[in-house]
Amino acid sequence: MVKTEKKRVRFVDTTLRDAHQSLWATRMRTKDILGILEAVDDAGFYAIECWGGATFDVCMRFLREDPWERLRQIKAVCKKTPLQMLLRGQNCLGYKHYPDDVLERCVAKMCENGMDIFRCFDALNDVRNLEAAIKAVKKYGGHAQGTICYTVSPVHTAANFVKFAKEQVDLGIDSLAIKDMAGILTPAAARELVGALKKALPDLPIEVHSHMTSGMAPAMYMAAVEAGAGAIDCAVATLSGFSSQPAHGTMKAILEGLGYETGVKVDRITEIDEYFKKLKPQRALQANANAEVVDVQVLIHHIPGGMISNTRSQLAQQGALDKLPEVLEELPRVRKDMGYPPLVTPTSQIMGVQAVLNVLTGKRYETVTNETRQYVAGYYGRSPAPVDPKLEKQILGKEKKITCRPADLLEPGLAKAAKELDPKLVQSEEDILSYCMFPAVALDFFKWRAKPEGERDPIPADGELTIAKAAEQAKQAKEAPKPAPLSADDAKFAVIGKQFVALFGSLGGNLKVDASALAAAPAAEAPAQEAAPAPAAAPKKTLNATLTGTFYRADAPGKANMAEEGAAVKAGQPVCVLEAMKLFNPVKATEDCKIVRFLVKPGETVQKGEPLAEIE
Ligand code: CO
Repeated sequence: MVKTEKKRVRFVDTTLRDAHQSLWATRMRTKDILGILEAVDDAGFYAIECWGGATFDVCMRFLREDPWERLRQIKAVCKKTPLQMLLRGQNCLGYKHYPDDVLERCVAKMCENGMDIFRCFDALNDVRNLEAAIKAVKKYGGHAQGTICYTVSPVHTAANFVKFAKEQVDLGIDSLAIKDMAGILTPAAARELVGALKKALPDLPIEVHSHMTSGMAPAMYMAAVEAGAGAIDCAVATLSGFSSQPAHGTMKAILEGLGYETGVKVDRITEIDEYFKKLKPQRALQANANAEVVDVQVLIHHIPGGMISNTRSQLAQQGALDKLPEVLEELPRVRKDMGYPPLVTPTSQIMGVQAVLNVLTGKRYETVTNETRQYVAGYYGRSPAPVDPKLEKQILGKEKKITCRPADLLEPGLAKAAKELDPKLVQSEEDILSYCMFPAVALDFFKWRAKPEGERDPIPADGELTIAKAAEQAKQAKEAPKPAPLSADDAKFAVIGKQFVALFGSLGGNLKVDASALAAAPAAEAPAQEAAPAPAAAPKKTLNATLTGTFYRADAPGKANMAEEGAAVKAGQPVCVLEAMKLFNPVKATEDCKIVRFLVKPGETVQKGEPLAEIE
């Protein structure tokens, strides 16, 4: 067949979502976006990716902005280019499965507020976790983009990926994304995968998403486009490279040199780049200043960049940084035991925590997190390959594995959430949905918003992540006291284990020790934890903080205190909670005792080792 027209490939701009999530800890403000949005809208992109779980969470948590308002303001400017978002399937914008009524209402409101394209993905590539999301997107008139989360394993063959794509086509997707979150898709594998997809599903438009972590992404994009992919994800130069996407300019040069038409306007991408270059000193995460430009190790261990930096900082806080190589070796073994899940939120955190525990205890799976147990029991969905049967038996014991769609077990959540909220704090239906996604974060934001302007806590100033502060934190982490050896002391280990569950940062919802929903930002956004000082010597018998965090007496907003002053408690009974890295971590009584009085007020920050309550 003779081709008469020019070959065409489209660019999706990720600057306003993934790029600043990867490089600026998601700290781009709405005003930053609005300052250049008209140029972004006019640059000739196929779509503007500007919304997702992390941006939603960080908006309320750190920037004190309403994410729905951000969406409306973006839509008011963008008249030419569709808006695109990342939807975590049944996890919607959070880290656990939400009931169908919550998910559907969220999608309805997203459509109503201006979202056009929904990239729906599931960490396990379990199509059952995508059903409700895709159905809702179609119902409310959105473009449903299915997703293949790319990973490497004996069961992740091109043929299996094609099968998964077909399952999504059966649900009515309009296009398909290949999501290479770790940046490990090679050009040859991309050619094979896109080729196989095009052969089996010739009418399905394919978009490819990758990260520059290993440096392969431009070559891979080129191979994917030559094999038939119609769109690629790129960012403006200032926000490209490292763990972000390739730059528009790079890909434009490569592809136009091959005779492709991209439709991207050079003057506009230059203008956008100049704008963000000026903003960078205020917004860039200084901790990234030392990041490797190219990390080829990722091609060996396949662990996404954000997950490694998180593992490293958490090990440092435990004085066990020397164990990092062992943890990186253990992780692929854990992944194999668990049936090769792709490593993306939330599976990356579950496998990461378990690998750390396996190394620090010196005995694999002696301690198993709640999240690992839930994963093995099927509450996250079907693992790509079966979990090691011996291990499954050891972890589950008599507990039965579920085989249904996990969300089928959930009660409707909308009415309950609406009832829980103080009507004085709620301004819109969107507020109720924000609360469903991130109850504690949303509530905190609503309360902040309800105060007169002069009485609100200040929003962390621009440039809060200065080099000086990063250096100070690094120094403190280095000087933090080494904890005593753990292996002989199970009780202490349980505490350390919980800390890891907490400190890994991204373990909201299903991953929490406690069932109340409190969500978290992905690993990359986790703020550096202050180093813990040596425990202070207490004059009386006290119950001490197991980690540095914020003290609360109830395990969820609005709930009753876990233990009252004067009450007798049994060893192991939760007495209060510490919120650290966005998780509520119960502090349990270390012995049978009486709580004489609490020494800290709810909402106060405590250091690890600090007395929380006097006991006798
Ligand atoms: Co990405």
